[in-house]
Amino acid sequence: MVQDGVMKYVLSYMVRISIGGRMRQNFERGILLLLWGALLFSGFGCDGSGSSRAQGRLVPLQDNWERAVEQQTIPKGLRSISAKSCGRCHVRQYEEWQYSTHSHAWTDAQFQAELKKESSPFMCINCHIPLQNQQDSIVKGLVDGDIYRPVKEGNPGFDRRLQAEGVTCAVCHVLNGKIIGLTGSEAAPHPVLLDSAFLSERLCISCHNAVAVVTPTLACTFETGDEWKAGPYYGRKTCIDCHMDTLSRPLVPNYPVHLSHHHYFRGSGIPKSKGAKTKVFNGLDFALSIEPGDSSGGDSVRFSFVVANAHAGHRVPTGDPERFFALHFEVRDNRGEEVFRRVERIGEQWEWYPKARKLTDNNLYPGEKRRYSYAIPIPGKRPFVAHIWVEKHRLSEEAAKYNHLCEAYPRFITVYDTTFILSVKR
Ligand code: HEC
Ligand code: HEC
Ligand code: HEC
Ligand code: HEC
Ligand code: HEC
Repeated sequence: MVQDGVMKYVLSYMVRISIGGRMRQNFERGILLLLWGALLFSGFGCDGSGSSRAQGRLVPLQDNWERAVEQQTIPKGLRSISAKSCGRCHVRQYEEWQYSTHSHAWTDAQFQAELKKESSPFMCINCHIPLQNQQDSIVKGLVDGDIYRPVKEGNPGFDRRLQAEGVTCAVCHVLNGKIIGLTGSEAAPHPVLLDSAFLSERLCISCHNAVAVVTPTLACTFETGDEWKAGPYYGRKTCIDCHMDTLSRPLVPNYPVHLSHHHYFRGSGIPKSKGAKTKVFNGLDFALSIEPGDSSGGDSVRFSFVVANAHAGHRVPTGDPERFFALHFEVRDNRGEEVFRRVERIGEQWEWYPKARKLTDNNLYPGEKRRYSYAIPIPGKRPFVAHIWVEKHRLSEEAAKYNHLCEAYPRFITVYDTTFILSVKR
């Protein structure tokens, strides 16, 4: 996501607000930007006592945001909060979570490449490994409020294995020595706290919505939460309803059957490494129609391809602005010579210099349909072969090269592919 040395993804980690020690989020974009302004420009805060390492004033992190979720203790009855250890009992949830990109949020080659850049501020990690337990240092404050000058201290409670698990079980389920759940089961060996406000779509949105323009070339923009709120599914279906479909099964083998949720977090389905397990979620429906030849202005055949965002509760693509769909239309004659070729793109295009700004955006809104229609001249009435295929891309080839991601890093998958004969009927 960081291209041409410029950062798109920012620190707008202020989306998470801590109230009474809990992870809570701030939905108001306005407040978000306000907080930014406050931190960056007003310089309120205490003097930097104890910041002997750095010259300048130590501005403490604001209580509410920007920091890691506080260090979590291991709930009674458990020996660890790692996904692997939860997985000894919650076998299915663990297996499923391994398919999700949540489990790769730290190890992902692209994330690691971007994190190493100087332009990436320290808070990049706060959505990818949000628990303090997952971070090797504790950030005490910022020198002069500068996000590129955090004052760090070693974290004695650092757990490297938990770090590697990225958005792990404990991120969503462990709080203040308890396991957050919604089932109300009494059989668990660990304390359970029922909290439907915490374990709701608000939790998802705390990471899946961030909008901020910090410096002219520093903007952060992924708005899945806002797109959902503005769309037809708001009040009807939540992130969890669609991304964690339900089934009946025991939560632990040999326990009674309960209402349960798949933990695949199906999404784009583009694997994070060659051969990595993944589950595709298709938001788009495709419909092809071939219209009879029109011989008035010479023989030709018209075909239409309709793409509809039929299943996603937000725009498609959503999230990372580097995502796009490429629609390929190709017609060849009976000797294999190309006679027609078109590539259409669905996604956003950004310019990062000299000022971050969106150039184009034709993402599909929930329910939106788009028609691509072409007339192909068919001289001599020979049959032609048409080939249509649709690719879903995580990032462009240039961006992959820029990040030194090797050939083995999967950039896209094909979600539709068809070949058919075009001929003029008499
Ligand atoms: C030693 C086995 C064991 C381990 C380890 C374990 N659990 Fe559980 N857990 C259970 C059992 C048993 C239940 C209750 C099952 C039932 O009621 O049918 C349960 C229930 C749950 C529930 C549902 C609670 C509710 O009432 O809604 C959640 C969520 C959960 N565990 C998460 C976790 C997480 C996260 C971890 C790792 C940090 C973990 N568990 C570790 C055995 C375990
Ligand atoms: C991104 C957040 C997230 C992560 C990561 C996550 N869960 Fe969950 N989990 C949920 C939500 C949300 C629910 C409850 C859904 C509901 O009831 O509406 C849930 C429900 C559960 C339940 C209750 C039964 C069920 O299936 O609904 C268990 C047990 C559970 N999770 C275990 C785990 C384990 C084990 C892991 C790690 C391997 C894990 N979860 C990772 C969000 C998460
Ligand atoms: C702590 C932050 C955090 C929370 C909470 C969170 N996510 Fe995520 N989610 C991420 C990150 C980071 C990634 C991307 C990881 C990567 O690509 O390496 C991601 C990826 C995803 C993807 C896959 C995107 C793809 O590439 O296909 C889906 C779907 C998703 N999350 C849904 C959810 C849902 C639903 C919830 C709420 C139950 C949720 N997330 C909660 C941080 C979070
Ligand atoms: C009505 C069902 C539905 C709802 C509600 C929904 N999603 Fe999705 N989501 C989808 C589908 C389908 C896709 C796959 C889109 C595609 O790539 O074709 C998707 C894709 C994603 C992706 C992957 C990004 C990408 O471009 O592939 C993320 C991340 C995500 N959703 C997060 C969320 C979050 C967070 C919420 C709640 C604010 C949410 N979704 C609500 C159905 C839903
Ligand atoms: C507000 C929370 C948040 C912060 C802060 C954040 N990310 Fe992410 N990141 C996400 C989410 C959510 C996704 C998944 C987006 C999606 O799939 O729609 C993601 C995905 C990614 C991906 C994978 C993109 C892909 O196409 O699979 C990379 C790389 C990444 N982030 C890098 C960074 C860098 C670098 C920073 C700091 C400059 C950063 N992130 C800060 C939440 C965050």
